Amino acid sequence: MINALAGCRVLVSAGPTFEDIDPVRFLGNRSSGKMGFAIAAAAVERGAQVCLVAGPVSLPTPVGVTRIDVRSAAQMHTAVMAQLSIEHSPCDAYIGAAAVADFTPQAFAGSKLKKMPGEDTLTLELVKTRDILAEVATHAQRPRLVVGFAAETDDVVAYARGKLQRKRLDLICANRVGVGATGFESDDNTLLVLGHEGFQRTLGPAAKTEIAGRLLDLISERLITERLVTERLR
Ligand code: C5P
Repeated sequence: MINALAGCRVLVSAGPTFEDIDPVRFLGNRSSGKMGFAIAAAAVERGAQVCLVAGPVSLPTPVGVTRIDVRSAAQMHTAVMAQLSIEHSPCDAYIGAAAVADFTPQAFAGSKLKKMPGEDTLTLELVKTRDILAEVATHAQRPRLVVGFAAETDDVVAYARGKLQRKRLDLICANRVGVGATGFESDDNTLLVLGHEGFQRTLGPAAKTEIAGRLLDLISERLITERLVTERLR
């Protein structure tokens, strides 16, 4: 629906994060950012004011989207929290499509790590990153709708339902990665959208741009319904 999101502020995260080990090496993942960028574009098409926090990808910025480029999970955390806290401009929806690293090196080596003669293994100490999505969902200025993604290789529904509850989300979009032609680097995808009270909807298989449109239609419906209910209760 054209302009279904007029007057709404939507914050989207997309892409991978890169966790630097030393000046030349990093830990990354295979996220292309395509899904998150398509979501940002679909939100603009529906009239929203959209901010896209993007990990290191070389995709063009969708027309009308404000983009903030970051590299690491820590930088993505800072950028997302700053957007949530903008005074007098609350976010209506947060869509966490980024594949944020779960772990980052405990320490950054200022100079390139060297191979040591006689040592066949290297142990990297990793520490957990902060869970941006879970923090958004419990933030004092929580958006009305918080949507997460779950990329799983197996037991998709069970893991996704677990994340929906644990991270206090409104919706979670699960996709199976590592099998077939859909998922991380592909132009196509299939999303299973799960919500509370048994809500379940399959989007696709279709192009990521098409899926993003259908997901944004779902999100718009929820925001509109919620606003009507709140106004009625006033
Ligand atoms: O727990 P898992 O990493 O599989 O959860 C995926 C979801 O959580 C995605 O929506 C991702 O953007 C978000 N996430 C996050 N911060 C992290 C890890 C994941 O926001 N440190």
